[in-house]
Amino acid sequence: MKNITVLKGDGIGPEICKEVVRILETLNLDLNFELHEVGEACYEKTGALIPQSVFDSIEKNKIVLKAPITTPIGKGFKSLNVQLRNKYDLYANIRPAKSMPNVKTPFDNIDIITFRENTEDLYIGEETMIDENTVHAIKLITRGASERIIRAAFDYAVKNNRKKVTCVHKANILKLSDGMFLNIFNEIKGDYPQIEATDMIVDNTCMQLVMRPEQFDIMVMPNLYGDIVSDLTSGLIGGLGLLPSSNLGDDFALFEAVHGSAPDIAGQNKANPTALLLAACLMLDYLGYETEATKIRTAIDDVLIENKVRTADLGGSSSTTEFSDAIIAKL
Ligand code: NAI
Ligand code: MG
Repeated sequence: MKNITVLKGDGIGPEICKEVVRILETLNLDLNFELHEVGEACYEKTGALIPQSVFDSIEKNKIVLKAPITTPIGKGFKSLNVQLRNKYDLYANIRPAKSMPNVKTPFDNIDIITFRENTEDLYIGEETMIDENTVHAIKLITRGASERIIRAAFDYAVKNNRKKVTCVHKANILKLSDGMFLNIFNEIKGDYPQIEATDMIVDNTCMQLVMRPEQFDIMVMPNLYGDIVSDLTSGLIGGLGLLPSSNLGDDFALFEAVHGSAPDIAGQNKANPTALLLAACLMLDYLGYETEATKIRTAIDDVLIENKVRTADLGGSSSTTEFSDAIIAKL
């Protein structure tokens, strides 16, 4: 029996998490889900956003399924997401955006995977108040972290029969930092002659993504651009309710939705659980349960095609629970 650490999160987190675990349990796999509270609810009870028991569970199980957590702004908290990514060296944040059937968007055949470097760049959070009108923020780019995310993107391309990797950067302005990232990309691409390798400046990339997204296959980029550009790719397939992500390191793996805790719709049982459910599918793939992951993906497609049950973000009026019931009925 394999144990999975499940973090219930804040806002819509507990609502979508409950449904995703319910769906996973109908498959009767050899998996045990250890549910933990983290985030605001936990802070109020224990004084810690993540209690020690959660770290212990993660260290024991090494696989985490995580619902979104609210990061309080301006209260001196370091983002829990950033903390977890750093503590467990989850250096590759992989965000696959794939068109879903019967979800209306301007494009039908989006299939773009963002590889976001997950441990450095401006996300190290080193900001210094120089004087009351001036702040310095440090953008850290290192050879080691750049090499491993770029290799992860190319290795994934080879293994999964993908054709092209695009390096996204701003090396025209950030000549040393992004310049090094791009140079490393250009060194490494020589090891993968079968994969087309190209690079594009991040602002142009955004325009190209909304005009001609079919030119993209796999994209690899530093942390901040990856955060922003992957939300853009979620817009191409119908919104944040649909985009999952893997956060992979050498020893630990964490799977989550790309979206946040959506406080505007929290507690109303109307969030779309699909992104977290697709993240659970990425976890099943990772654990070798590819057949079961495919079953869930097919069930999601079937429910969308049938179009009787659909959450509000996709133009329907069904609840989170109704959507999950429909998935379970298909399974
Ligand atoms: P958000 O992703 O929570 O929400 C943006 C918009 O998308 C909202 O209108 C929301 O209602 C909608 N939305 C998001 N997920 C949805 C779903 N599953 N179904 C239907 N609609 C959905 O972004 P926001 O509002 O900027 O952030 C809220 C909080 O979440 C912040 O505290 C932020 O720090 C945190 N956050 C946490 C993340 C994580 O735990 N991985 C990732 C992103 C943000
Ligand atoms: Mg984000």
